[in-house]
Amino acid sequence: MCGIFAYLNYNVNRERRYILEVLFNGLRRLEYRGYDSAGISIDSSLSASLSRDPNSPLSLRVPPLVFRQEGRIESLVKSVYENVAATDLDLEESFCAHAGIAHTRWATHGEPAPRNSHPQTSDPGNEFLVVHNGVITNYQVLKETLVRHGFTFESETDTEVIPKLAKFVFDKANEEGDHGVTFSQVVLEVMRHLEGAYALIFKSQHYPNELIACKRGGPLLLGVKEFSEGIAASSFHDFNVLKNGKPKELFLSSDANALVEHTKKVLMIEDGEVVHLKDGVVSIFKFDNDKGKNCGALSRTASVQRALSILEMEVEQINKGSYEHYMQKEIHEQPESLKTTMRGRLIRGGSCKAKSVLLGGLKDHLKTIRRSRRIVFIGCGTSYNAALAARPILEELSGIPVTMEIASDLVDRQGPIYREDTAVFVSQSGETADTLQALQYASENGALCVGITNTVGSAIARNTHCGVHINAGAEIGVASTKAYTSQIVVMAMVSLAIAGDTISNQERRDAVIDGLYDLPNKVRDVLELDQEMKELAKLLIAEQSLLVFGRGYNYATALEGALKVKEVALMHSEGMLAGEMKHGPLALVDENLPIVVIATRDACFSKQQSVIQQLHARKGRLIVICSKGDAASVSPGGLCRIIEVPQVVDCLQPVINIVPLQLLAYHLTVLRGYNVDQPRNLAKRELLNELFISRLRLLGQVILMMLLLALKVKAYVERPQVNRDEDRTLLRTLQNVPPVEGPLEQEIVGQSAGEQTGGWQGEGVLNEETPSVLLPELAQTQLELPVNPANTEGNAGLEERPESPISSSRIPLTEVALSVSFISVRS
Ligand code: F6R
Repeated sequence: MCGIFAYLNYNVNRERRYILEVLFNGLRRLEYRGYDSAGISIDSSLSASLSRDPNSPLSLRVPPLVFRQEGRIESLVKSVYENVAATDLDLEESFCAHAGIAHTRWATHGEPAPRNSHPQTSDPGNEFLVVHNGVITNYQVLKETLVRHGFTFESETDTEVIPKLAKFVFDKANEEGDHGVTFSQVVLEVMRHLEGAYALIFKSQHYPNELIACKRGGPLLLGVKEFSEGIAASSFHDFNVLKNGKPKELFLSSDANALVEHTKKVLMIEDGEVVHLKDGVVSIFKFDNDKGKNCGALSRTASVQRALSILEMEVEQINKGSYEHYMQKEIHEQPESLKTTMRGRLIRGGSCKAKSVLLGGLKDHLKTIRRSRRIVFIGCGTSYNAALAARPILEELSGIPVTMEIASDLVDRQGPIYREDTAVFVSQSGETADTLQALQYASENGALCVGITNTVGSAIARNTHCGVHINAGAEIGVASTKAYTSQIVVMAMVSLAIAGDTISNQERRDAVIDGLYDLPNKVRDVLELDQEMKELAKLLIAEQSLLVFGRGYNYATALEGALKVKEVALMHSEGMLAGEMKHGPLALVDENLPIVVIATRDACFSKQQSVIQQLHARKGRLIVICSKGDAASVSPGGLCRIIEVPQVVDCLQPVINIVPLQLLAYHLTVLRGYNVDQPRNLAKRELLNELFISRLRLLGQVILMMLLLALKVKAYVERPQVNRDEDRTLLRTLQNVPPVEGPLEQEIVGQSAGEQTGGWQGEGVLNEETPSVLLPELAQTQLELPVNPANTEGNAGLEERPESPISSSRIPLTEVALSVSFISVRS
């Protein structure tokens, strides 16, 4: 995964030093996406002055400057300033208009080296420059063709074909007499030849002070900051904000993190869109693969209109504040992140005193889920562990068998997934390649696909039938912490929602809901163990290995605690099922190997006591996590090191128990001198693989066919006085096609916030304090939903809300087909 960023100032004077700093800062915000090399391009002096006259001949222009450096962003910054000093480049020179681009890389094609860093260039004169996030799958074929046309390549990247192709297209148009070929026409033609998943930003000497961004997969946002008077008051529905040509600064970024310090007015660029920034105007074109094909001419696609959204994210969210590291900040943020995860979703009190949960993105699908033959949790790493922690409560409350699948393993084995299954995809980023691949597989096999993700508009949010955002806020540390606890809480709420209002388990449901309300405070209490965990870390600093034993609800805690220790502290650590101890692991036990045993109060407590006895008998060096007041019961001879944690309802205890282990991993890492936020060899999201990309194209066609079929059956589904859920299941059985309920309704009945950002219907209906990264304009109209003040008190800040209204305005079906004809994924 890589990060791309661009900054364009129009009719606003900016010095070169300022432009450089904006670009560097953008990269710093994106560094978590990859950090083995980086690069930028800015204008040189002469090219800048001549750029004021776009008619000046190219031969008179000086190519833009390109700086590329191996290593982290700070190595790039250092090398740029060294270069500036060596070449006497004037940092105070002011530009009334200027377009700069930047890239942070996580190598896929070619080792980290300046030649493989971006911007990649068309030629020594840098006529076209490109920064790229994603993978071009047909680059070999394109490369061979371009080589035949005289191009020489200097990198091993898949990206280099793109600027070269742009130059080829531009030169060809000019040779054929089309001297007026526009930048967007060139890029649209380039896109027509590219296969894969990508987000791209182009800069060109031929089009000074212009930028083009486009994407097919890969997130990309445009930020707009205007300077003219009265703009602050302008409406987001006013398309003129993008069209008025007034002084402004424009930003392009892979992530909202890099925009929020400049502006909150953003546009989520959608797949297949080409965004042209020129003369203070933003033009958006929809890429249509068929247009211009075989007609020999460059396509002249009509522009489309889009309105801006407002970013509901504060700069503090992306700063470390008083913390030294993001991981530390995110661990300590958990009381708040859990509150925002639950806000507006728990319903307590009211006339009937009923307690329940409301999950807008799921409520229309609950009946289908309840009728599933099986629920399959699918995820990787921490997300898988979170699902494992939630499995027992889901099984208990739903009565439906729940199985677990590590995404890559499911795909490797092509494990059985059926139409009658509900497949739940758990992913913080919503962009993990293995999970997306499993999603494609489950979708092909006809399962109802449910997403649980932290990322609005991510590939999982867009390509599942329904789902729930965890709303944990931006997680920047590579090691997932607050997302893990929020995922467990969301899955506990999903279990409650599926359980419905059956009388038999009402008491249990009430206890879980009470536990949820109280959880943020309990997490605040357990965070007080910080110093104690630091002391423990000091004792373990030189260890080679750490075992963590858990069972029942806390088997997942053992796996996740061990994962945290190994990934950031770079210490070997294994999470183990305590029930398996005597079937092998016991052989490892001696007086040297530190072992953490999780023995908080639940149905497995006495079994864990017995495990402790056995380990103790073999002189095990034990650290026991137990409920407050249980020290004597778990450490009879007082020989174990005890960590006492607050007790909560059993199914939520994993949320509490993981916190000391997160703190331990954090302190161990700092004490051992390793990088906490960017552990060796790891970036936040893994890369998309090529097989997946090609298969996604196929899936796009399948879904398009499904939609056409869905439109045909729509009349049947919508006939009066008929249970739609039942009909859909019936139709699925009769037609032998995958379920279509979610996308059909989601795409046709449009304009909820979730829909606008490619999410789930109902999930976009947010209340005032919803911390979702993007709160698009139509969600804002729903901020005034009545909240029952009587019920918001004493609820740990969590609010009730009435049932979510969903807008029923419709969007044209042609747009539906277009928007799904490219299945979006990111790398
Ligand atoms: C560990 C960690 C990873 C991720 C895994 C899945 O701290 O972050 O194990 O959990 O790569 O990522 P998501 O949740 O984004 O699908």
